[in-house]
Amino acid sequence: MTQLTIVAFDGTRFDIDAADGSTVMENAVRNSVPGIDAECGGACACATCHVYVDDGWTAATGEPSPMEEDMLDFAVDVRPTSRLSCQIKITAALDGLVVHVPERQA
Ligand code: FES
Repeated sequence: MTQLTIVAFDGTRFDIDAADGSTVMENAVRNSVPGIDAECGGACACATCHVYVDDGWTAATGEPSPMEEDMLDFAVDVRPTSRLSCQIKITAALDGLVVHVPERQA
């Protein structure tokens, strides 16, 4: 299990024991984190799972793929730390990862 923290827009912290191999989006949905709609179910086809990776974790989570980059064009208020949470897979290397939910989704 890997420790994952998802901070909702209102500041509520969701501290989650995430299974390795699961995605940040799956953990958000399972824990009813508000603001992660994940309409496409993780197919990188909706951008409603948009999150901001905490500044200290951007190197560990890596860059979005070209397909994810294209989809992020449909997200609202995209920043350099923006990612689609269905494309971030939990591994032991991400233990302690923090992501933030934007104010609203596409
Ligand atoms: S759930 Fe649709 S792009 Fe992530």
